[in-house]
Amino acid sequence: MKRFLSIEELREKAQSSVPKMFFDYCESGSWDEESLNKNISDLKNIQFKPRVVRNLSNRKIKINLLGEEFGMPIGLSPCGLTGMQHADGEIHAAKAAEKFQIPFTLSTMSIVSIEELAKNVSREFWFQLYVMKDRKLTNDLMARAKAVGCKTLVLTVDLQVLGIRYKDVKNGLSTPPKLTIKTLLDLALKPKWAFQIAKTKNKTFGNLKPYITNVSNLNSLSSWINEQFDESLSWDDIKKFRDLWPGKLIIKGIMAPEDAEQATSMGADALIISNHGGRQLDGCASSVSALMEIRNNLSNRQISLLFDGGIRNGKDVLRVRALGATMGMIGRPYLYGLGAGGESGVIRALEILQEQLDRTMALCGHRDINSVDRSILKSN
Ligand code: GLV
Repeated sequence: MKRFLSIEELREKAQSSVPKMFFDYCESGSWDEESLNKNISDLKNIQFKPRVVRNLSNRKIKINLLGEEFGMPIGLSPCGLTGMQHADGEIHAAKAAEKFQIPFTLSTMSIVSIEELAKNVSREFWFQLYVMKDRKLTNDLMARAKAVGCKTLVLTVDLQVLGIRYKDVKNGLSTPPKLTIKTLLDLALKPKWAFQIAKTKNKTFGNLKPYITNVSNLNSLSSWINEQFDESLSWDDIKKFRDLWPGKLIIKGIMAPEDAEQATSMGADALIISNHGGRQLDGCASSVSALMEIRNNLSNRQISLLFDGGIRNGKDVLRVRALGATMGMIGRPYLYGLGAGGESGVIRALEILQEQLDRTMALCGHRDINSVDRSILKSN
């Protein structure tokens, strides 16, 4: 995998290896993709200030978050259908994360189930929960995560109503893919993917399967899932989840300072500033502009803010650290690695980001990530 030098090169390889329906699912933003693009361009517009003649030996990028040490300030965000970018994708990505001592977050909408992932990894992973109308089901998912030893719950609050991604509608996204002439032709061009998927037992939404009876085909399963998101979710509900979950609670999908105050007052241990990778409200500000606004205004200065949205390079991780985020979370960059080469592809994506982060930090004149602050950025 060493021949891939950037996340963009892994993206190109993934595009030629993964069926179009699933590559597009990963790639898409909602509607006109304004927020998806803004996430990336706003990060790129933040400029560094090079500093020279500083001692740069023995550099360190380890950090502490919520009482735990991580190998670098990068975490893997929850992504739906990861096991469709590559067979058993969640296991491959979690194993790669383990090698770097960084968190892997398993999505409610994963292909590999909570229990199956736990059997295959030795490091604790984070579990991401969507609040479903059926609270028994939601609570059961939480109990399953606890039973396998998850101590950190990532509660996503920005998907009460699903943002429309045109490509998914056009492609008739389904898991596993519906066998139309178009998908068969596409699969014929991706034989390695198809061979590996044929071999695994993990082919549909692993966490949700047990709750569904009387579903004759897997398309009805996808529509069943879409109907389950709770449109009436309230902060009182969030409080109940806080009281029910004994471990660390991270609330994901916060963009407004008012919501950041509210989530903090509910007892969240950390927040993830995120516009869901530009997949929900199109036309909203970039995640990085929300990070700046929230970090500047939040009354609780101590709470950890995690960041998600637009990271494509280790430079971006340093940018968000400088702006007050403890950890930069990535979704697409690791999915590209996964599509390009399974576990080794995710390892390569993480090596690329790690190297870029370390080198950028050094060229900004720092040797410890924990001493980085806004002073590394050029003032306007
Ligand atoms: C689900 O989280 C999605 O963005 O598709």
